Amino acid sequence: MKIDVGVLGATGMVGQQFVSRLEHHPWFNVKWLAASERSEGKSYTEASKWRLSSPMPEAVRSLTVDGCVAGRGPKVVFSALDAGVAGEVEEAFARAGHIVLSNARNHRMDPLVPLLIPEINGDHLSILAEQRRVKGWSGAIVTNPNCSTVVLAMALAPLQPFGLKAAVVSTMQAVSGAGYPGVPSYDILGNLVPFIGGEEEKIESEPLKILGSDAGRTKHTMTISAHTNRVPVIDGHTMTVSVQIEAKALIDDLKEAYRSFSGRPQELKLPTAPIPAILLREESDRPQPRLDVDLGAGMAVSVGRLRPCPVMSYRFVALGHNTVRGAAGASILNAELMQAELQCLS
Ligand SMILES: NC(=O)c1ccc[n+]([C@@H]2O[C@H](COP(=O)([O-])OP(=O)(O)OC[C@H]3O[C@@H](n4cnc5c(N)ncnc54)[C@H](OP(=O)(O)O)[C@@H]3O)[C@@H](O)[C@H]2O)c1
Repeated sequence: MKIDVGVLGATGMVGQQFVSRLEHHPWFNVKWLAASERSEGKSYTEASKWRLSSPMPEAVRSLTVDGCVAGRGPKVVFSALDAGVAGEVEEAFARAGHIVLSNARNHRMDPLVPLLIPEINGDHLSILAEQRRVKGWSGAIVTNPNCSTVVLAMALAPLQPFGLKAAVVSTMQAVSGAGYPGVPSYDILGNLVPFIGGEEEKIESEPLKILGSDAGRTKHTMTISAHTNRVPVIDGHTMTVSVQIEAKALIDDLKEAYRSFSGRPQELKLPTAPIPAILLREESDRPQPRLDVDLGAGMAVSVGRLRPCPVMSYRFVALGHNTVRGAAGASILNAELMQAELQCLS
């Protein structure tokens, strides 16, 4: 028996990824779709400007898009809501007993809300009992990180045993990260925009909660400096990272740490867990978004050009799919982990 699920913000870029990636999911069945008043009452085909290269799943074409009203829809809802409305809507759903798996920024840094990357900090789910007690919710909210944070945190996690002290990261972020229609073509074609509102703050703060202890209440002590740039790439956030570590480690030690990195999703063989979670590239010109973004069905993070840094300890390039590993795929993996570890979705 599959678990019925709904999608809030089902018509947007991330919402479409949810619908597509859940089509053949062995545990979950998309039963309910919701979006804004603009879409409410229309068929999903009519309401969503489908922008994925895979066809819209047959089963959802004629579903009528509902409003985001708490209490409607199944117990489990994935949220791809615009951050302007996600805060209140997701809370209302949690209060009404829904388990909300959110992509929006609104609740990520709430100390009672897990900010989850299943390969790194699945143990942070232990905060859910306190979340329910303190907030008085019969449901729950679990979040996944910002689309660049996921890539950075995954690339830093294997280096934790060497003592992470600091990182300087410069991102080259795809246009799909800005939703649809997103950045005007006149601004981005043949160009680069060296500013993404609010993004640097998220990249500098979210990894410290994810890599922190005591379910994220005690933040990691490393310092992160971020520069964010929008580039004319469709999918895939690429970033160059210089990292300072405490240990005097050899480059082969770091390579081995990447090659052997694995987490609970891989151990439990969760349906969408990428194996390996991180792909270490040895070629001098990889990873590249057009060639490597879909590795592991979009769930693997690629790390390449690992080499010593004359200013900090080591430097490398990392890449991940922003609407998959950085959004819909991340939420689905969170849901799989919650069901496998806590059986709380059925
Ligand atoms: N794109 C990425 O790479 C990415 C990565 C990580 C996280 N995120 C986050 O995921 C969320 C969705 O991003 P996106 O790129 O998919 O954005 P998007 O394409 O703009 O889609 C936004 C969705 O929110 C719905 N919505 C807007 N206003 C609403 C309202 N007042 N009431 C109910 N629904 C409303 C829209 O419905 P209508 O179609 O009816 O307007 C649409 O379904 C955002 O919070 C974003 O920050 C995005």
